[in-house]
Amino acid sequence: MEITAVFAKVLRDVALGCDVTYDNFLYDDADVVKLLHRARAFVRKECSPDRVDRMRIRTNIVDSFLRSACRECSSAQPRQVVILGCGLDDRAERLGLFSQCHVFELDVPAVIRLKERLSVMRTGTSRSRLVPHRITESRGWVDALCSAGYSTAPCTFILEGLVMYMNRSEVESMLRFIYEIAARGSDVLFHTVSTASAAESSEYCFGTDDGKGLLERAGFCKCRRVAYPAQQGAMSYFVCGSKQ
Ligand SMILES: C[S@@+](CC[C@H](N)C(=O)[O-])C[C@H]1O[C@@H](n2cnc3c(N)ncnc32)[C@H](O)[C@@H]1O
Repeated sequence: MEITAVFAKVLRDVALGCDVTYDNFLYDDADVVKLLHRARAFVRKECSPDRVDRMRIRTNIVDSFLRSACRECSSAQPRQVVILGCGLDDRAERLGLFSQCHVFELDVPAVIRLKERLSVMRTGTSRSRLVPHRITESRGWVDALCSAGYSTAPCTFILEGLVMYMNRSEVESMLRFIYEIAARGSDVLFHTVSTASAAESSEYCFGTDDGKGLLERAGFCKCRRVAYPAQQGAMSYFVCGSKQ
């Protein structure tokens, strides 16, 4: 589990051209630095330019969805952002979301511990509310989110690179819970691999060609595929929906 989070972070750093050395004084934790170096050596050796490009495109889609969701927000009218299966991504910082949003990032406890170490090493603090909890079919993760301060304000939920590691009933119940706790005016961005990609992969548990139907059955409306280059979309794609 931690490995997928480290891999996604390093692949994104390479894709965005972030020339991170991982060993400057801010990353002064030997274990974390070693892990990041090993992951980066792997990405540089094993990942095709096409794979790196897919990560760049995927990242741009999520970034622009979040930017536009948060465009109208201000510190007086903050929006909530919930990133489920957040991994080690530092999107909230990269996009400067903290001045206008309350950001919650949820992942399994081991990843959140590592994320906390990275954020503290990088900036001296963690400005997101980090929620260490596994998403299962039960509502434990929802309760943990509410205990962390999730409120009734409209929210943007981001599910990027997550559902392929869950089983179908976990995915369906997660979407129902999201719908239940979302205020009107909330929206969701759902990223999935196709059925064929999941079937071919030893890594993925879940894939669907009907992401739009999944969101609709959970209650969301205005569901639509987000524009994605056709070649990339054959492997994975995004669907968004909202609660009116
Ligand atoms: C491939 S990484 C993607 C991380 C991040 N979304 C990104 O794009 O960089 C998948 C993440 O989903 C998390 N994850 C997988 N299944 C999960 C579950 N049932 N509950 C919470 N997190 C989960 C993993 O721990 C991991 O951090």
